[in-house]
Amino acid sequence: MLILGIESSCDETAASLVNDGHQVRSSVISSQIALHAGYGGVIPELAAREHLKNISPVIGQALEQANATLEDIDGIAVTNRPGLIPALLVGTAYAKGLAAALQKPLVGVNHFLAHIYGAFLEHPECLNDPSCFPVLALVVSGGHTAIVWIPADGHARILGSTLDDAAGEALDKAAKILDLGYPGGAIIDRLAKSGNPKAYDFPRSLTGAAGKPLKPEHRYDFSFSGVKTSLLYAVKDRQLNDQELADVVASYQAAVMDVLVNKAMQAAEATHAPTLCLCGGVACNSLLRSMLTTRAEKSGRRLLLAPPKYCTDNAAMVGGLGWHYLRRGLSDGLAMPVNARLNPELGILPFAPNVDRRPL
Ligand code: KG4
Ligand code: ZN
Repeated sequence: MLILGIESSCDETAASLVNDGHQVRSSVISSQIALHAGYGGVIPELAAREHLKNISPVIGQALEQANATLEDIDGIAVTNRPGLIPALLVGTAYAKGLAAALQKPLVGVNHFLAHIYGAFLEHPECLNDPSCFPVLALVVSGGHTAIVWIPADGHARILGSTLDDAAGEALDKAAKILDLGYPGGAIIDRLAKSGNPKAYDFPRSLTGAAGKPLKPEHRYDFSFSGVKTSLLYAVKDRQLNDQELADVVASYQAAVMDVLVNKAMQAAEATHAPTLCLCGGVACNSLLRSMLTTRAEKSGRRLLLAPPKYCTDNAAMVGGLGWHYLRRGLSDGLAMPVNARLNPELGILPFAPNVDRRPL
C-alpha cells in the first residue's frame, strides 16, 4: 500500500511517499527556519501562510521523486495533532481535499507517535518481534519531552514528561540568551564540541542531585526552567570570549543531556525494557546519541536511534505510521478535527507486534 504522508504541524511543510509502512520512496521537507529566525520562535500565522504557499509544490516534488502520480496512492495520512492550530489546518484541509477528490481513505496521525515511529522506519524487523518489547522511548523535540513505555500489545503509557520547557525549548531558549541564533539545538551541539562540559556545574532538576528529595511521582519527569535561569545568572553582565562561551554551552548541554539519559536508563531498568528508542528533533544531538549508545551497550540493550533525517519533523514518519491504521481499514471522515494538545492517554499503538486485527 502506497501512502502519501503530509506534515504541517509546526514550521516544516513535508510530504512523503511510503510503501507498506517502511519503504520510503521520497521524503521532501520545506523548512521555514529562516522565516522565523528573526522572531526567535515560530509565529503560528506566519507558519500557516508559508505552509499554504509550499504544500502543493512539496507534495508535487514528493510524487515526482517517488516516480508516482496521485492515482498511484492508496491512502493519505496527515498530522492532525498535536501542533499549532493554524499550521495543522493547512495540512489537514489539503489532505481532506485530496482524499475527497481522489476517493482515497484519509487518516489523521498523532505527531508525537509519528516521532516514535521515526525510530522504527529503518527497523521494521523489530515491529514483528515481540522480544524487542517493551520498548522504552525517549521522545525529545521542540514541543515534547517524555519517556514512553510501549509493550508488545501496544497499550503505551507516558511514564514521565516535562513539567515546564521541552528539552529542545531549553536549548533554543539558551541559544537566545547567548545570542547564538535560532533554532539553538544544532548550534549548541556544534559549539559544545570545543567546550569543557565540566566548566560550569548547572543544576540537574528533579534528580535529587541538589539534596532535595525527589517525589516518587516525578521520578521520570523533567524540568528545564531551573537550568535556563541558572544559565541566565551565569552569563549576566559578562562578556564571554570564544572559549568561555564554548564552556558555558558545553556545560549547559551536558546538564540537559545527563538528565535525559539518566532518567531514560532508570525507566528502562525499572520496566525491564530490552530496547531503547531515541526520537524527536533533539535526538539529532551528537552528545545525546553517544551517551545513550554507550549506556545501552553497557546495559546490553538494543538501541533504536532515529536517523537524523527522521528525527526533525518529516512526513515519512507520518506516512509510515498512517499505513498501520489504513491497512486495518481504520480511517477518518472528512469531518476529522485538529487538536493543539497531546492527549496523555496515548491509546493503542498500531505498530506494536501483538496488536490484534480488531479495531484499535
Ligand atoms: O521534532 P522537531 O523538528 O520539532 C518538534 O516537533 O518540536 O524538533 C525541533 C527541536 C528544536 O528545539 C531544535 O533546536 C532541536 O530539535 N534540535 C537539536 C538538534 N537539531 C535540532 N537539538 C539538539 N541538538 C541538535 N543537533
Ligand atoms: Zn516534531
